[in-house]
This record gives sequence, C-alpha cells and structure tokens, in this order.
Amino acid sequence: MIYFDNACTSFPKPPEVVESMRDYYLRIGSSPGRSGHSLSLKAARLIFEARENLSHLFNVPRSERLIFTSNATDALNLAILGLLTEGDHVITPSMEHNSVMRPLKYLLKKGIIDLTIVPSSEEGYIDPDALRKSIRKNTRLIAVNHASNVVGTIAPLEEIGKISGNIPFLVDAAQSAGAVSIDIEQMGIDLLAFTGHKSLYGPQGTGGLFVREGIDLKPLRLGGTGSKSESWDHPDFLPDKYESGTPNTAGIAGLGQGVKFILNKGVDEIRQHEMRLTQSLLECLEDIEEITVYGPRNPSEQTPTVSINVRGREASEVGYRLDREFEIMTRVGLHCNPGTHKTIGTFPHGTVRLSMGYFNTYEEVGQVLEALREIATIP
Ligand code: ALA
Repeated sequence: MIYFDNACTSFPKPPEVVESMRDYYLRIGSSPGRSGHSLSLKAARLIFEARENLSHLFNVPRSERLIFTSNATDALNLAILGLLTEGDHVITPSMEHNSVMRPLKYLLKKGIIDLTIVPSSEEGYIDPDALRKSIRKNTRLIAVNHASNVVGTIAPLEEIGKISGNIPFLVDAAQSAGAVSIDIEQMGIDLLAFTGHKSLYGPQGTGGLFVREGIDLKPLRLGGTGSKSESWDHPDFLPDKYESGTPNTAGIAGLGQGVKFILNKGVDEIRQHEMRLTQSLLECLEDIEEITVYGPRNPSEQTPTVSINVRGREASEVGYRLDREFEIMTRVGLHCNPGTHKTIGTFPHGTVRLSMGYFNTYEEVGQVLEALREIATIP
C-alpha cells in the first residue's frame, strides 16, 4: 500500500504519537483543569506541554494565546465569526478552502460583510499588490491560505503581513503547519489557524488558533471551563475564554508528541525531504505526455502536493484504478475547494491529488509513476 493522501490526513503517525494517546487512556484517563487530584494534574500537564510545543514551533511568545480547537475549520470559524461585525470588509484570494469561504459567504449573504475575492494566478500564486489595492477604510480582515490544499502553492506571508498593517491578518495553515516554517512575529500573523492531523502528525479532532494580543474575538461557545466556577459570566481570559467544555485530552497529548517529533527533526529537514520527493515526482511526470500537472511545478514554491489529470480519463477513474489495481491512496475531485479548481481551470471535474509527507520514500514515488504511466498509456 502506498499512501499519497497526506494533504487530507497524514499517515502513518510517529509511534510516540499513538503511544502517548494509549498511555493517557491506560494511566491517566481523567479531565484536565477540573478536579485538582493528581491524575487531573497529569492530564493538565499534557495539555500544557502540547501548548508549549506549538508555541515554540510558531514562535508564539505567550502560550495562553494559543487556543485548542477541534480542527482547522473550528479555528477558522472562531476567527471569522468571532471577529467580524456589521459593515466590515474582508479581502481573500480566490483559492481559499471552503472552511474560509463558507463562513465568509454566510456573512456576505446575511448582509453583514462586504467581500473582495482577489484572483490568484492559474498556478495558485497570490499577487500581494492586488491585495493591497483592495484595502478599504472598513477592511477588517485579510484571510490567506498559507499553502493550497489542491496544488500546494505557498503564499508570500511575510509580504502580505507587511501589507496588512493594522488590519487583522488571518492565516489558514491547515496544509503548512509543521511542513513549512511559520513565525507569527516575522510574518506579521495576527490569527493562525491550524489542524493537528496533517503535517503536525497528531490525531484527527485536534487543531488550534493563535490570537494576537489586542484582537478580541467573540467566543462561539460558552460554558464550563474549570475556572471562575462561582460566576455565571464566562471567563474573559485566555485560553479559557475559547476553550469551554471538556477537551480532547488524548488527542492533544498525541498532537503534543507530533509537534515534539517535528521540533526534534527540525522543520527544515522535513521540508528538504519533502522538496526532494516533489522534485523527483514532478521531473518524471513531465515525461509522461498524457499527464497534465497543475500548480507551480517548482518544489521550493509548493508543499509536496501535486495535482494532475490524465488525458482522456476522468479524475475519479484514475483515482479508482490507483486504489484498486495498485493500492495507491490519493484524493480526487474538488478537494472542498471549488474556488481553486475554478482558478486553475479544472472545475467541475477536479484533479487527482498526489500528496506526500515525511514518511514517503523515493521508491514509492517511482511506483506511483509506474502506475500512472500504465493508466495513461494502457486502456
Ligand atoms: N482539506 C482536506 C483536503 O484537502 C480535507 O483533503
């Protein structure tokens, strides 16, 4: 079996991620920040360590500003619905995932916000100057996907961070966190949404949002936090303000280990390996005449995510044959991102997405290419 669907969920996970979750259920099992007994304190310690590891990875100076959420979608909803109010204007490129576009379109349809969608190039490149020119007096948010989940194109965050100035800058790092270096200070990021189960090598059901000091989001969930229990007013301090309800402690423990794995390896080493895999895949794809490759076709400007189509074949047929005949897992179709497929010219049929991760090998790239060659040339 070859797993080339890491942009959807990374697999496999480092063994210590799975081990930490098993260990939590076997030895700790209780709720953090609630009961105060020794097992509860151990659970709280796991959450604290995961928060610290993530803060270290993203250069967040005070870890309480890093909120745990259920996934990137949850974090993006908190950022968008928690920030925007009547009369606000938002700027976003044309390649955003539905997790950004659906909350924005919801607010637009309700007449709450105005939205400017700035077209990206066919390869997924953003023009920072076009973003800058779209800024109005009432612009309250610039929301940008760090790396495309369809073609991998990496956005110039540092440049966009400078342009955004005092306007809150929201980055969707679902596809990049752990795979591409992120520094919230250097990049001027005010809100960073990420998921745990992709390049951070944690489990599903984990994610988070960094919220810069000075940005006040309306909480979308109120309730028990284990703090200020005497009051019917929801706490207004972080992280409790945005973390009511019992957390996914096992998942967060696993995420903490995933991040530790990345910190130990170094994002640069992971990036180098993934760039080499991408280079090898792209070079050989070029030699197969029947295959069209979308996106940058440049490993240094993309994550190890490559979208293709095979001439005369539906993406769904190619994905099905890769799975059934060759045991190669990919994702086909629109990837929850119609905006990108419209931008790159593959709407409504979509593409076959080959997405690699740190645990993929050159041998696997070779086997995938052989399978694609056969599908492309033999009816
Ligand atoms: N957004 C994820 C993907 O691209 C689920 O597959």
